[in-house]
Amino acid sequence: MAITREKGMDNTHRLLMEGFHYIPERRRKFQSNIFQTRLLGQKVICIGGEEAAEVFYDEGKFKRKGAAPNRVKETLFGKKGVQGMDDTPHRHRKQLFMSLMTSERLRELREITRWQWQVARDNWQQKREMSLFHESEKLMCRVACEWAGVPLFASELNQRTRDLAAMIDAFGAIGPRHWKGRTARNRSEKWARSLVQQVREGKRSPREGTALNAIAWHRDLNGKLLSLQTAAVELLNILRPITAIGRYVTFGALAMHDFPETSEKLRSGDETYNRMFVQEVRRYYPFGPFLGAKVRHNFNWSGHHFNKGTLVLLDVYGTNHDLDLWENPDEFRPERFKEWGGSPFDFIPQGGGDYDMGHRCAGEWVTVDVMQVSLEYLANHIDYEVPKQHLYYSMVRMPTLPKSRFMISRVTPR
Ligand code: HEM
Repeated sequence: MAITREKGMDNTHRLLMEGFHYIPERRRKFQSNIFQTRLLGQKVICIGGEEAAEVFYDEGKFKRKGAAPNRVKETLFGKKGVQGMDDTPHRHRKQLFMSLMTSERLRELREITRWQWQVARDNWQQKREMSLFHESEKLMCRVACEWAGVPLFASELNQRTRDLAAMIDAFGAIGPRHWKGRTARNRSEKWARSLVQQVREGKRSPREGTALNAIAWHRDLNGKLLSLQTAAVELLNILRPITAIGRYVTFGALAMHDFPETSEKLRSGDETYNRMFVQEVRRYYPFGPFLGAKVRHNFNWSGHHFNKGTLVLLDVYGTNHDLDLWENPDEFRPERFKEWGGSPFDFIPQGGGDYDMGHRCAGEWVTVDVMQVSLEYLANHIDYEVPKQHLYYSMVRMPTLPKSRFMISRVTPR
């Protein structure tokens, strides 16, 4: 069966104009979970939905090498990191990340996060008005460094946070935002390389089980330590995404503001509700629009032929809002997670499939834990006002945020 094709020599401009809606809108229009288009000068197949996610995570059919465009590697990912690896070398590298996620280390992470919220709340009381987004990113940068065994001087905090944040902010950008992300990556990699070098030279001894220690001493399958550059990229693969949780904290605050009945429930202290709220924030708000992989061998799926080497994009945002999978998907309703069956392929804000064997986000538990502690703290231990501002978030900008960056004022302890 021929795959429905979107007309046009190249539709990159449409993707840039429609952002998060680009793939879901065409799936709806073509009434199909698969269509073909041309983006950045190449043929691309877009797929979405639970079955699509399942095939996308079938390693026999897809590989990651060569899938990410250079501009994403120059900003978000870095080069030679875990994201672009396949097969046994990937699984070996992935184990480095998964070995950091023990229940003991996650418990420490929750404690660090709570402590940093207390410190932040005390500081925020001195400010007349502040952006919750920018302050949360700084808070998360502190959490990331402390948890990872990375020293962070007070004088460095702003620059390091700005750089980690700029790499995230650059992923769907062209022009100045992209360039800012590249500069930020260069500066951050230099910093991370020097940290790893100090560990290897015995000048610094981060605790066992911390990311800095594990990455500095990790050996690849050939028995060799990672190059300083690769180790730096992997260390940033911990520090950058923890900082990114500041975005979800901001969306969580927005949800409490826009749907006040949810903040009432969060204040009741019901942990199950808190967890469902966190899941709904990750499902409802846009973060990553889609993921890319390349067809490894020719195969057929759902009556369609996939040619070796073709780039395939999985609709992440659209799958989290799929009408076939979610009742009233555009409604914010944490209780929906009471009935959620836990499929690894229908709720995919941080990828799907298996953590150890596939590319699913290594930091999903970290994200959920940090969000749970953070949003509980925000709901139950801080009083603040939300002045009039532009809380609207664009569905075109990738990644996106409330336009005003969520300003708050009159912070006091609750
Ligand atoms: C991979 C999202 C937080 C570490 C991914 C992927 C997504 C994602 C979509 C790609 C999955 C794939 O390629 O199939 C997010 C979001 C986060 C977040 C939205 C929230 C802020 C974290 C955290 C960490 C982390 C906190 C580390 C502590 C990683 C790593 C990978 C990854 C190492 C690469 C996994 C691989 O290629 O095997 N993440 N992530 N992420 N994430 Fe996250």
